[in-house]
Amino acid sequence: MLEALGIGLSYGATPALRRIDLTLAAGSRTALMGPSGSGKSSLLHCLAGILVPDRGRVMFDGQDLTGLSDRERSALRLRHMGVVFQFGDLVPELTLIENVMLPLQLLGVKRAAARASARDLLGELGVADVADSRTGAVSGGQAQRAAVARALVHEPRVVLADEPTGSLDTVNAEAVLDAMVALSTRMGVALVVVTHDNLVASHLDDLVVLRDGMLDLSAREAVG
Ligand SMILES: Nc1ncnc2c1ncn2[C@@H]1O[C@H](COP(=O)(O)OP(=O)(O)OP(=O)(O)O)[C@@H](O)[C@H]1O
Ligand SMILES: [Mg+2]
Repeated sequence: MLEALGIGLSYGATPALRRIDLTLAAGSRTALMGPSGSGKSSLLHCLAGILVPDRGRVMFDGQDLTGLSDRERSALRLRHMGVVFQFGDLVPELTLIENVMLPLQLLGVKRAAARASARDLLGELGVADVADSRTGAVSGGQAQRAAVARALVHEPRVVLADEPTGSLDTVNAEAVLDAMVALSTRMGVALVVVTHDNLVASHLDDLVVLRDGMLDLSAREAVG
């Protein structure tokens, strides 16, 4: 469904990704791990079509994302992908529920229906009580859960989440991961979750490890 074919990416003289090949099947659940600076966020952003790699191609359902315009990639991302950013990007002027409604409204869903879907999902992620608070008035963990809800609400083909549980303690991180896995299974959504936490990774089926912008295949085999 989503495939990286020999992708490379540099920021100026700094190489971030070197010849990455990766295939993600529909409905698959992958943990993406590796030390700080190993290229996890860069890879996630290339898979989401937010960054275009310098070399190689990213294929989504047989379509080459690197051949599309910015506008075309944004449209495809809105419809088929959900992204949770490492440093959050909820709209601060909006309440949590309004943030979660956004993708649906951009896709033309009526306000009342969007609100109902968003409220259900915030409930399943355990933050229904703060649905009507602005992002500045909730905890980092509550905001992260709303960001997860926003990535899932339009039932995309794939959710790409960059440390979605980074602000949560172990118990809450596991609860959010469990909810993400349950919801993605119900909706048939593939998951890619960047994490530093082995416990979080253990909730997913596949493991991809990056080191210095390259896949560490030995780490992958060691886990099975
Ligand atoms: N905007 C940027 N400009 C210049 N260099 C960058 C930029 N973003 C990332 N890098 C560099 O690219 C490499 C990969 O960074 P990336 O953010 O993908 O790592 P990461 O694995 O997500 O790290 P972390 O676990 O700290 O989030 C690092 O060497 C980093 O310093
Ligand atoms: Mg990162």
